[in-house]
Amino acid sequence: MRPVRAGSSDAGMAVTGHLLPEPVRLAAERAAQAGFTMSCDPDTGKLLAVLAAAVPPNGRVLELGTGTGAGTAWITHGLQGREDVDVVTVEIDAATAAVAARYPWPSWVTLLIGDAVEVTRRSGSFDLIFADAQGGKWEGLDTTIAALRPGGHLLVDDMTPREFMDARHERKTSQRCGCSSRRT
Ligand SMILES: C[S@@+](CC[C@H](N)C(=O)[O-])C[C@H]1O[C@@H](n2cnc3c(N)ncnc32)[C@H](O)[C@@H]1O
Repeated sequence: MRPVRAGSSDAGMAVTGHLLPEPVRLAAERAAQAGFTMSCDPDTGKLLAVLAAAVPPNGRVLELGTGTGAGTAWITHGLQGREDVDVVTVEIDAATAAVAARYPWPSWVTLLIGDAVEVTRRSGSFDLIFADAQGGKWEGLDTTIAALRPGGHLLVDDMTPREFMDARHERKTSQRCGCSSRRT
């Protein structure tokens, strides 16, 4: 039997048509206050939560690019009721990491400041990796894949043509997914 975390509160609140768990809503609030516009969207977050919930006993989860903590919040939402999983998230920008660190994350969540590829190289292996930063996705994808455990899942965000895409994002996305990113 897995240990149950007492007192976890995930009362939802509707924002822009989505019922958001409270930690995710608070992450969105921090992002808005900080002018951070790159948080994962709720559909990605829900998939992330489901994949986190499916991590095997004593599993490990890695997020590349913490931002202000929306993805981390979805991961912890998926893991509610469990104490056996370690979550590591890394952000290269110290100011952005400080915004994410304002939330009282559970003790099994580790927030790091650093480069995603370097941290991945020295952090062992993972059952779930959410690659949501240039490092580990555009550069060093081989390092990210090498850190996946057998049967593990790699979720890579922002790999489809989007309105906010700049020329570099378009080029890198096309290279990685081998598709044309021409808008239709
Ligand atoms: C798309 S946002 C992450 C959003 C976050 N995962 C979420 O779900 O809300 C990308 C983040 O990656 C950070 N970043 C960019 N390059 C990085 C690198 N090499 N290592 C770690 N973080 C990086 C950026 O500063 C930015 O905060």
